[in-house]
Amino acid sequence: MTFKAPRGTKDIFGDDIFLWQEVEKILRGICERFCVSEIRTPVFEQTELFQRGVGETTDIVTKEMYILEKKGSESVTLKPEGTAGAARAFVENSMYAQPQPTKLYYITPAFRYERPQAGRQRQFHQFGVEIFGSYDSSCDAEAISIAYETLNRIGIQNIELRINSLGGNQCRKKYNKILKDFIGNNIDSLCEDCQERFEKNPLRVLDCKNEKCKKVIENAPSVIECLDGECSAHFEALKKNLDNMSIPYVVDSKIVRGLDYYTRTVFEFVSNEIGSQGTVCGGGRYDNLISECGGPQTGAVGFAMGLERIMMLVKSQELIKTKGRNVDIYIGSIGDEGFLKAQSIGFELRKAGINAEYDTLKRSVKAQLKYANKIDAKYSIVIGESEINNDKVMLKDMRESSQKEIKLSSLKEMLIQLMN
Ligand code: HAM
Repeated sequence: MTFKAPRGTKDIFGDDIFLWQEVEKILRGICERFCVSEIRTPVFEQTELFQRGVGETTDIVTKEMYILEKKGSESVTLKPEGTAGAARAFVENSMYAQPQPTKLYYITPAFRYERPQAGRQRQFHQFGVEIFGSYDSSCDAEAISIAYETLNRIGIQNIELRINSLGGNQCRKKYNKILKDFIGNNIDSLCEDCQERFEKNPLRVLDCKNEKCKKVIENAPSVIECLDGECSAHFEALKKNLDNMSIPYVVDSKIVRGLDYYTRTVFEFVSNEIGSQGTVCGGGRYDNLISECGGPQTGAVGFAMGLERIMMLVKSQELIKTKGRNVDIYIGSIGDEGFLKAQSIGFELRKAGINAEYDTLKRSVKAQLKYANKIDAKYSIVIGESEINNDKVMLKDMRESSQKEIKLSSLKEMLIQLMN
């Protein structure tokens, strides 16, 4: 019997894992610089958290959730995104009682039952940042600046920041009515999903990728025109903040995002180099989610990036050179005694912080050195009976193809010197 990874999932290993680790290092470094601390929440949560948080009318909740077979009394679901879990944790752990803002980041797998294609998987990974505790547009700008600097630091080229404001509840109500009137008699021309959305959440029609729907809403009125004074001022202040940090953006009134929790600011970073799934990062403000989760009314804003999409760009734009396995020394051996010495020295070196590898397959010396070459070891030695008896060994510099005789007993000190 052989097994395959489930459709829409991928193993990450070999050269790829070095790229992932390198990118993760950049993400963690950025968060440290922006004073954002990590949070790790469970990979599954109560199903109701996502239904209420992400929204009953979203594709995620209606079609894509991995709801686990009931274990015990409650229904639980694999997280389709990171925001709801972070919001739940903020409330449950009374983080709102601490001095604000609370700035959290996560690197997490997420699960959506979608049709897999390039840049769209059923298990994928998100890097997300959530900032709780402020309604001020400077926090929206702060979140955007973190995403912007992350993409910049990774080196991603040709990516556009698109921003929009969906306003507050009142603006949304007003806009939904105007949009419904606009679509009016054309409702039959909408796709099946949008016909349903038209009733429950007309705004989402703007987001539809279906050509027929796109045509219907081509000249739809802009949501920005329906913003009340406060929401409009918030959006203007955000633009001023972005200008202040020289972060380029375009205003795109068609951006509404696929999740229900957004209020006011929404934004996306989009690339046109990775096919139809070009949204590398999405986010926005969600001032009602914390209270929806049972906490006090609290301003919140954040974003999440799809790491698979980032990796596609890292590879196609050849952005990161990894060091690979980074083996300092390969310790070859001859015979049983040689092996035991290689093992004890190898362990000593590893404890001293040196990346050491030795043969555990009992291969010939020739095969061992071929392997040392393959794993790109910087140095190699071969230990046999005479090296042990005479306390002498040839230290070979694999890159320079040069070698010198040293005392076996001073190998550790020698290597520590060489590595520094
Ligand atoms: P989202 O737009 O659903 O937003 O997802 C964020 C990013 O995750 C997308 O832009 C995309 O890069 C990636 N992504 C989503 N679905 C998939 C998939 N099936 N395969 C590969 N990548 C995918 C959210 O999840 C919000 N929680 C973002 C947020 C945080 N808003 C505020 N705070």
